[in-house]
Amino acid sequence: MDLFHSGQVVKVCAPMVRYSKLAFRTLVRKYSCDLCYTPMIVAADFVRSAKARDSEFTTNKDGIDLNCGCPQRWAMAEGYGACLINKPELVRDMVRHVRNQIDNPRFSVSIKIRIHEDLKRTVDLCQKAEATGVSWITVHGRSVEERHQPVHYDAIKIIKQSMSIPIVANGDIKTLEDAENVHHLTGADGIMVARGLLANPAMFAGYEETPLRCIQDWVDIALEHGTPFTCFHHHLMYMMERITSKQEKKVFNVLSSTSAVLDYLNDHYGM
Ligand SMILES: Cc1cc2nc3c(=O)[nH]c(=O)nc-3n(C[C@H](O)[C@H](O)[C@H](O)COP(=O)(O)O)c2cc1C
Repeated sequence: MDLFHSGQVVKVCAPMVRYSKLAFRTLVRKYSCDLCYTPMIVAADFVRSAKARDSEFTTNKDGIDLNCGCPQRWAMAEGYGACLINKPELVRDMVRHVRNQIDNPRFSVSIKIRIHEDLKRTVDLCQKAEATGVSWITVHGRSVEERHQPVHYDAIKIIKQSMSIPIVANGDIKTLEDAENVHHLTGADGIMVARGLLANPAMFAGYEETPLRCIQDWVDIALEHGTPFTCFHHHLMYMMERITSKQEKKVFNVLSSTSAVLDYLNDHYGM
């Protein structure tokens, strides 16, 4: 929580199902990311299945974030994710419940939301959450129905102006310059990025595209963590997207083993 009081904009790696696991979080932290989220964890699966725990909850030092932003149909149908932005009292009860379970007042409990068409409802939700002791709120500046529409940074600004706790802005931030612009536009205390970091994990350190050093770091960290091949390979496809030709992608994207990937990187980049 002290992170938000340094006077600097806090740079955050977003929760990403299948992607924001410990190895990737370790990589982005090496490149100026201050705070990282695990992928969303469905609490019922987490309690029921050791496999789900081992797969999703690889962590070191963390807080808890209540996901009120996932717009996927299955989550909405089950009453999870963005469905919760319409249940401010339930959010308040859940935050209170988490707070009551944990003695350490410095342990962070945050929420991540999308906005309503009627922004007054979002402000009401945020103020209720703040009153319950939420540490900060991340706002993806789109409604539940919106997918590729422009992000409503003006809405994030209004939310920021209505709150005392830190606000993290999220949506369509692809470069460090975008991050700075959104910080200025919204006044947000932090900036959260998902796809921009998949494409360039060194983005927060000011790189325009993934430097080779970062690819080498990913290989080292992923192998050290025993990252499954599919995850290892998918991250490389994302981070090399902008620096490989169509022809190179045709070869690289169909490689099917760690040793084939390592040989490719050695042959093409001398790694
Ligand atoms: C591959 C992927 C997985 C995601 N998984 C989650 C998730 O588990 N929980 C969540 O709240 N949002 C999830 N999101 C949404 C992001 O956290 C973020 O809010 C959204 O992508 C907008 O940020 P961006 O424009 O920087 O990508 C995911 C996004 C991507 C691209």
